[in-house]
Amino acid sequence: MEGKEMWYAHLRSVLGTEADRYEIVSVAESGASGPRVVILRDISSGKMYALKYGETRVPIFQQVRNCQTMVSLFGERYIPEIFISGEKVMLMEAISGQTFHEAVIKSLYDLPSLVEAYKKILEKFGEVWKKTAEPFSSTVSLARQPIPRAERVREAVFRRVFDGQNLREIAGNKVVINEVETGYSLDFLLELMTDRYSSPNYTTLCHGDPNMDNIIIDSDMDWWLIDFEWVGRHDWRIPASHFVGWWLSNASFLKEASRIKVGNDTICIKYQIGQSELVSALLAEAWKFMENMGNFFKEKQFEQQIKLQLAILLLGDLRFLEARNRSQYAIPLLGEGLRLLTEIVSLS
Ligand SMILES: Nc1ncnc2c1ncn2[C@@H]1O[C@H](COP(=O)(O)OP(=O)(O)OP(=O)(O)O)[C@@H](O)[C@H]1O
Ligand SMILES: [Mg+2]
Repeated sequence: MEGKEMWYAHLRSVLGTEADRYEIVSVAESGASGPRVVILRDISSGKMYALKYGETRVPIFQQVRNCQTMVSLFGERYIPEIFISGEKVMLMEAISGQTFHEAVIKSLYDLPSLVEAYKKILEKFGEVWKKTAEPFSSTVSLARQPIPRAERVREAVFRRVFDGQNLREIAGNKVVINEVETGYSLDFLLELMTDRYSSPNYTTLCHGDPNMDNIIIDSDMDWWLIDFEWVGRHDWRIPASHFVGWWLSNASFLKEASRIKVGNDTICIKYQIGQSELVSALLAEAWKFMENMGNFFKEKQFEQQIKLQLAILLLGDLRFLEARNRSQYAIPLLGEGLRLLTEIVSLS
């Protein structure tokens, strides 16, 4: 292991003398907010643990509290047990398996098994959402605030540079996607993310980041949820859009090289993405699930609102491409996000 000494030094600074009980088995890839996750083995018992520590957007002690909420919603069976928790550290049961994402990308299990498992995961989320649903009220504080979130995403898009041009500086240019003139400027489309938002009928209490790196699955197709940063009350359409958005954003492949050409008053985006048979099957399940929930909650303007959230998710994911080693997907993400926004114009 590279930098082994450094990780042992970390371990000692986090756990003190307690650290001597463990050996480091591996260091997990971790997300954007800066925590570290190391997998440890207790030298005397052989038991495996996952240690998450560091400075995070949502402090670890809050994540531990969130984890307890998750146990009450999903049941112990689906959540790793926590053994030690502190201000900036949690030591939990290490689940032996892979993230659902890895299992899909590497086709570790056969297609029908993974699709079946995915359906069960979606079903369980649906159950929890139904159980915790409350009519929307503007006085309830949401874990992710829809309008500020959309504003942050718009700022992040404006900061991007394509074809040598900062997007903010060409915000008035008309967007052309795969040779189709949308007739709308970049600025107009990005404004829709806040202007067209309308509150849901219901909010739900749940895991707010159901991305496929936050689900661990084993060879028996048993699964667990991890990463409790965003647990709380949500406009349920936001986590719902994660299920579809994850595959589009993180599991699509490029069918040809993407291009962006900035003209005097145009911005021409050209890309073609596709999905494997397995990912297409999972995407179809995610769409079905989302539509069923939309019907259940009798959401108004559902297609418009869900496409809006999906566009925000894809455009927001531009920020994480480097961390996920997917820099070459910036053009398709921008294109797909803007394409979804053009679709909602006619869905008022
Ligand atoms: N209990 C666990 N058992 C096995 N592996 C784990 C466990 N907890 C975390 N991991 C591994 O570590 C990775 C990162 O953990 P986690 O998802 O909690 O944090 P993160 O996504 O890096 O951070 P955040 O979303 O808080 O910024 C997971 O994707 C998974 O591979
Ligand atoms: Mg995570």
